Amino acid sequence: VSDMLIDSFGRLHTYLRISLTERCNLRCHYCMPAEGVDLTPGPQVLSQSEIVRLASLFVSSGVDKIRLTGGEPTIRKDIEEICLQLSNLKGLKTLAMTTNGIVLAKKLPKLKECGLNLVNISLDTLVPAKFEFMTRRKGHERVMEAINTAVKLGYNPVKVNCVVMRGFNDDEICDFVELTRDRPINVRFIEFMPFDGNVWNVKKLVPYAEMLDKVGQQFPALQRVQDHPTETAKNFKIDGHQGTVSFITSMTEHFCAGCNRLRLLADGNFKVCLFGPSEVSLRDPLRSGADDDQLKDIIGSAVKRKKASHAGMFDIAKTPNRPMIHIGG
Ligand code: GTP
Ligand code: 5AD
Ligand code: SF4
Repeated sequence: VSDMLIDSFGRLHTYLRISLTERCNLRCHYCMPAEGVDLTPGPQVLSQSEIVRLASLFVSSGVDKIRLTGGEPTIRKDIEEICLQLSNLKGLKTLAMTTNGIVLAKKLPKLKECGLNLVNISLDTLVPAKFEFMTRRKGHERVMEAINTAVKLGYNPVKVNCVVMRGFNDDEICDFVELTRDRPINVRFIEFMPFDGNVWNVKKLVPYAEMLDKVGQQFPALQRVQDHPTETAKNFKIDGHQGTVSFITSMTEHFCAGCNRLRLLADGNFKVCLFGPSEVSLRDPLRSGADDDQLKDIIGSAVKRKKASHAGMFDIAKTPNRPMIHIGG
């Protein structure tokens, strides 16, 4: 128990998000500016063996779920080997990935063999032309194919992450809900969050209450279901639908009190909260020969410095952070 990652508010951290790369094959407006972002030079990005070593320390401290993020995790060349090695860590129960789905249809069968148990796929619009606008790239059809492939491979539910932005896709909410009628997918509507370079504006945020109202009017059978205390999502079902609908309300009803998440970034920085500038390098001590206990001390002290909650939507919009593409959500 003394080894467990418990913060000063008693929250136990069992979920580690690892960003594998800062690169991406899309250029979404809500994630990065048009001019792109500075990339950490290759040699300063964690190698496969460094990722596995650090992950094993977290798992030995009680982490039982790892989610791979990016950038776009599937474009890392050694993604299969990373999945295989992480899924073999004793004590790890869930190996998950959040991906944009662009190259997933092709890669998923192998990733499944390598131990990937959960996939969340990002998709913000059902209209190909709007997809091209938002992502500054083509590929809508490939993402739809990725969702179908994940369903066929037996992932259940396949979570579909939809960041809702006023004037862009708020008119498509009910169309997304329709996707859940005949498919075991969990559509999750996400409130738009501020990050460096994404030109966040409260007018673009569609609050949870408004989204819920829209769905409830069109689908009167919408019913709240109990969610797990550490979950990001508020979950709902609709009688007769195979899939489910959820809302991730980071801005208007944060869920920090149940937070169990930590983050390891591609450059080896350790981040205890999605928001705020506070980070500490694990790569540097690791490369200077720190042993397991020394690394665990650095991790434990950072967890103890974690704040009770984020600063509130207007303050986080003003506080320095990284662009989303560096953090991975
Ligand atoms: P599950 O493991 O399937 O529950 O997924 P998840 O919601 O933890 O992760 P995912 O990568 O699918 O992220 C969905 C949305 O939740 C994204 O917008 C993330 O930025 C957001 N999110 C994930 N973790 C946190 C968190 O710790 N705090 C906040 N505020 N938002 C988060
Ligand atoms: N606000 C909310 N969610 C975001 N995501 C990326 N940027 C934002 C943002 N600004 C989502 C992605 C992905 C997940 C990791 O975070 O769509 O599904
Ligand atoms: Fe946890 Fe920070 Fe997210 Fe709140 S904002 S849920 S404390 S990571």
